[in-house]
Amino acid sequence: MELELILEELERLGQDNDALATQRERKYLNITRDTGQFLAVLVKASAAKSVLEIGTSNGYSTLWLASALPDDGHVTTVEVSPQKIEEATSNFEKAKLGHQITIVKTDASSYLKQSDQRFDLVFLDADRSQYADVAQEIVALVRPGGLLICDNAVSHASELEAFMHAVAGTEEFTTALVPVGKGEFVACKRAPMPTNSD
Ligand SMILES: C[S@@+](CC[C@H](N)C(=O)[O-])C[C@H]1O[C@@H](n2cnc3c(N)ncnc32)[C@H](O)[C@@H]1O
Repeated sequence: MELELILEELERLGQDNDALATQRERKYLNITRDTGQFLAVLVKASAAKSVLEIGTSNGYSTLWLASALPDDGHVTTVEVSPQKIEEATSNFEKAKLGHQITIVKTDASSYLKQSDQRFDLVFLDADRSQYADVAQEIVALVRPGGLLICDNAVSHASELEAFMHAVAGTEEFTTALVPVGKGEFVACKRAPMPTNSD
């Protein structure tokens, strides 16, 4: 199925479902379309090949990230809900992007604490209350020169204040608050200075 049709279908599903669902776990809580477009621009502009997403839901944002990657690029996406994982897996297969996506079925904080991989781009869209406690682990996953993006930076600014402050305060990052969708906190990790031999 064509990617654009799948994205449109998921947007309709997200709106209809989230308007009716009473329990938070039943909602998809997808990023907005303009956030998806923004993420795709960031992936392409930074020539990212390895992406980490925390909070897959049914895979709407993952599809934006994966579709912007080159053929040898890969998204690792972390999700704890078995039901959402099942739906996301089916959506990735429909979009023929499954081979570029790995879903890690675990709690985000345990993944962050045990992973020693480095990613070109890290996108955070899960349990905001955890971020500040694992800020060091999160920033360690971003390779030098890479990007960290956090959704809901305007819609839930107070919940994210401590985390954004921790990242912006390191001097390792250049940061911006971008008023797209629910507000994106974008942080670029300092790259090593080139030496004379470079
Ligand atoms: C806002 S939704 C993600 C939406 C998705 N990024 C999109 O735009 O399509 C947050 C997701 O994070 C998952 N989640 C919440 N807490 C988590 C945790 N501690 N570890 C892993 N996933 C978690 C939820 O099950 C939910 O599917």
